[in-house]
Amino acid sequence: MEDAKFSFNRRFFLKSSGSAAAVLGSVVIPIKNADAATAAKASTAGATTLAYPKKGVGKASGMPVNQAVSFSYPDASSPCYALRMGNAVPGGIGPNQDIVAYSSLCTHMGCPVAYDGGTKTFKCGCHFSVFDPEMGGQMVCGQATENLPKIRLEYDAKTDSVNAVGIDGLIYGRQANIL
Ligand code: FES
Repeated sequence: MEDAKFSFNRRFFLKSSGSAAAVLGSVVIPIKNADAATAAKASTAGATTLAYPKKGVGKASGMPVNQAVSFSYPDASSPCYALRMGNAVPGGIGPNQDIVAYSSLCTHMGCPVAYDGGTKTFKCGCHFSVFDPEMGGQMVCGQATENLPKIRLEYDAKTDSVNAVGIDGLIYGRQANIL
């Protein structure tokens, strides 16, 4: 008699705890989703990343081949160079996929880099870092440990215009590219 009662209680416990788990499960999941949604909303509301501006760099056909063209992006205190390499390069834009652009501030200590058309590299005169514009601004040698920040470009074939629309990498001396 006692065993039957125990068995009943045990069965009842297992059944009811199973139901409770199912109920809990069905309750917990929506709460988790609600938490995730709230967290997502909160992170969006507190976001400090500002959108990049779109800024004209020039006409693709008017850009000299293998010569650096100065411009600033995303603001006046961030000097950059655009280059029409004369041959297609990875990430290049324009009719020949040969136009690229970079921040002209060395990633080591912020000295201005200069373009050397003979070697098709950017060179920093302060501590002799060298960067390759045909390979995404890759640091080739020297004191710098980071590649040159690459300016994201877009090409409008209708107007032959090249526009800067973003940056991959952090401009030297900044905590954010957009101030
Ligand atoms: S600032 Fe360019 S190598 Fe040091």
